[in-house]
This record gives sequence, structure tokens and C-alpha cells, in this order.
Amino acid sequence: MKLTNRFRMPALALLSGALLVTGVTGVTGVTGVTGVAVQPASAHNPSLRVLAERAGVRIGTAVDMAALADDRTYRRTTAREFDSVTAENVMKWESVEPQRGVYDWKPADDLVRYARAHGQVVRGHTLVWHSQLPTWLTTGVADGSIGATELRGILRDHITTEVKRYKGKIQQWDVVNEVFEEDGSLRNSIWLQQLGPSYIADAFRWAHAADPRAKPFLNDYNVEGVNAKSTAYYDLAKRLRAQGVPVQGFGIQGHLAIQYGFPGRVAENLARFEALGMQTAFTEVDVRMILPVDEAKSVTQAPYFRRLLDACLGARSCKSFTVWGYTDRYSWVPGVFEGQGAATPMDEEYGRKPAYGELREGLAAGR
Ligand code: XIL
Repeated sequence: MKLTNRFRMPALALLSGALLVTGVTGVTGVTGVTGVAVQPASAHNPSLRVLAERAGVRIGTAVDMAALADDRTYRRTTAREFDSVTAENVMKWESVEPQRGVYDWKPADDLVRYARAHGQVVRGHTLVWHSQLPTWLTTGVADGSIGATELRGILRDHITTEVKRYKGKIQQWDVVNEVFEEDGSLRNSIWLQQLGPSYIADAFRWAHAADPRAKPFLNDYNVEGVNAKSTAYYDLAKRLRAQGVPVQGFGIQGHLAIQYGFPGRVAENLARFEALGMQTAFTEVDVRMILPVDEAKSVTQAPYFRRLLDACLGARSCKSFTVWGYTDRYSWVPGVFEGQGAATPMDEEYGRKPAYGELREGLAAGR
């Protein structure tokens, strides 16, 4: 093996520097120092996915398909650091069926293919949501040309078609997304208005029938700790499971902000869903701040990531931890929360922030 310049240093420098010096076992092929074998920095400085695999958890990211097409560093970093991917937008209804009966699977197919090529699993996101619905659907409901019976059939077909398309390729499906208000009442979406609360059980049954091996998840924000909203999910999950409805996972988005503080009782919240026999996951973690970013804010941000990760690692039911983008270069935050940003573990130039270090240390510490 040809040594790179990086490794052409005196043995003493190797011993005292950042490189890992091991015994003769575990050699990766770099030699040249008598009596010891030297592993390259990458072995001492493993990626998040390497550490996650050892810890027995999936580490994921939302993927921006435009960035994946245009940015080589993004492609490589996504492959190196993560073993789970979620489509940030391209599996949403407005993306897959922009006109009625006209499907565009290309970008979602591309992501599934990328994941397969890089040994990654895919979280499916999302089947039933009040947002990012196609215009033909929302206008049809609004003008009365699509009535309740027809709408129910449209929803069933949408779920069945999309889940079947990726059958066997999706590890967890976010079947319903954001169906509760903060006070624990059901969100007043077109689904609730037109179909009544039974749409939730229907959606889970349809999704499960279309791919019985994909875990069907509930998913929402502001449900990290124990509060009215997360308790509404707990009660719903308990009730539906008692009725035999295949609700098998609780997804906690984890969109936090340093100016609001860290939520309370996260471990307790995970534990109660676990006690129902469900899986749990952190599905969209980011930690925003009021811009401009500075060192102190980045340092404050880091333990937010770490504490959510530790909550996941502390719960047997928690099988995956996904960030909603890993570089500020493509984060959704500045576009949606005015004056806020810097919410991901890497800056716009892929520089690692303290948050990245905390994720790495947390994964290295394991369960
Ligand atoms: C966001 C995407 O990141 C944006 O690109 C898009 O414009 C809007 O949606 N909760 C969710 C995600 O479940 O689907 C949202 O993603 C962020 C909040």
C-alpha cells in the first residue's frame, strides 16, 4: 500500500500525534514503523455511521435531492457519515403525484437507488400530512368537486401505490405526520374535516397491508418530552393497538431551538411508548438558533444533539436517530424561521461544529 504524505512522518510524531498506534492486530495495511502498526486517521477518527453500527443504532439524515445531484462533497459526506436516509421532500404527495394520476417517482427512485448503492436503509416520509399536498387535491376538496367518499378512496390509493412501489426497500414509514395540535386535540386538517378521526387507523391498515415489513410510524414535532401533545399520541397509540391497528412506531422529529431550552422528561416519554411494545425514533433532529451564529451558541447547541442522541441510545426501542440535514448549506431552517439557522452539525462549508463532536462521542460511548 502506498503511503500518503500524511503518514510519512517520523515514528515519534506518529506515536505522539493524532494517529492511532495499535499492536500488530487490527492492522489496516499501513506499516513502516517497526514493532507497531499504524492505522490511518480515518480509523482513529471514524465516521458517525461506523460508530453507530457499533452502537447498534441507525444514524440518518434527510437528503436534499438537488444537492445530491449537484454537489459531490454532499454525495460523499452523506455516504460516509450516515447509514439511513430520509427524503426531505421527494416522497411527499405533491412531489410524487403533482397532477392527478400523473406520478413522478424519479427523484424518490434516485434516492432509493443511492441508498442501496451505499448500504443505507431508507425511512419513508410521509404518506398522510396536511402540508405539501398537491394543488389538484386541495382545490378539489375546497371547491367540493372531490367529496368525502372519493377522498377516502384517493387517500387509500395514494398510500397503497406509494408503499407498494417501495415495498421491501423502506425500513420505517411515517404513515401520518403532525396530526395533533399542541393541546392534544386532533389537527383540523382536510383529513379530519372530510373523513373524521378514523382516517388515522385506515391509513395504518392500508400502509401495513401494502408492505407488512415496513414499520408504520406516527411522527410529529414538539413531542420529545412528556406534554399534552405527546400524551395524545400515547393515548392514540394505546387505543389503536388495543384494536389491532398496526401502529408500530413513534417518531419524534426533534426540531429544537437553543432559545427555547431543552424539553423535559424525554427518557420517560420514550419509555412509555416502549412499554406499549412500539419502536421509537428521532426522525428530524436539528437545533436552530437566532442568527448570527457565534462560538458560544454553537457550544450551547452541541449538548442538545447529544441529549437527544443519549435518550435514543438509552431506549432499546429507539433504533434510529436522524438529523434533518447535516450541513447548514442546505438546511430548511433559514427559509422557514426568519432570522434563525445554523441548526445542523456542520457549517456551510462542511466544517464540523461542536454538535458533530458530541454526536460522535455519544455514538462512541454506545448504549
Ligand atoms: C420541510 C423541508 O425540509 C423543506 O424543504 C420543505 O420546504 C418543507 O418541509 N416537518 C416535517 C418535514 O415532517 O417534512 C418538514 O420538511 C419539516 C417539518
